[in-house]
Amino acid sequence: MRLFFALWPPPDLAHRLHEWAAAVRVNAGGRAIKSASIHLTLAFLGEQSPDRCALAAAVASSVAGASPAGVPFALDLDAPGYFRHNRIAWVGPSNVADRLSGLAGSLEQALREAGFNLERRAFSPHVTLLRGAREPHPWPPLPVLSWLVREVVLVESLRDNRGARYAVRERFALDAA
Ligand code: 2AM
Repeated sequence: MRLFFALWPPPDLAHRLHEWAAAVRVNAGGRAIKSASIHLTLAFLGEQSPDRCALAAAVASSVAGASPAGVPFALDLDAPGYFRHNRIAWVGPSNVADRLSGLAGSLEQALREAGFNLERRAFSPHVTLLRGAREPHPWPPLPVLSWLVREVVLVESLRDNRGARYAVRERFALDAA
């Protein structure tokens, strides 16, 4: 199974992101990510056995349950961006919030300690909204997109003939005392 950890926005925020993506698409083209599939990846595990999935879940549970990583935090998605190499239009936080990088860093470190062989690349937080897009000129105005992050999810990426589909396998509340 192909797995990753992510933050999954609540439905109203996902809906607003999807609406903004439709406005970007007017001049950028591409395919909009469905509202229910919109997310921010924290750590990508790739192909794993069911046993390793259970181990990853145990790791996430301990990270989400301990301070300082396991405390809810506010995240402002206030910066649009475009990756030329894979033609993705996205939105993310303009200054990588300490809390977000702290959470991603703690999770990554705990996963490595548990034997997961993660790619060493800098954390570049982004919420993909359009694939196969041109670089938008200009970007439509970005609405206020404030997110109160309360949980991490472990997700399985399933491929079918219509592309990727995501199934949330487990949720981990940020609930350190
Ligand atoms: P993307 O949106 O920038 O393509 C499921 O595929 C999620 O994992 C997506 O958010 C995707 O990012 C991300 N992803 C895919 N391959 C990855 C990799 N090798 N390293 C980090 N993230 C990856």
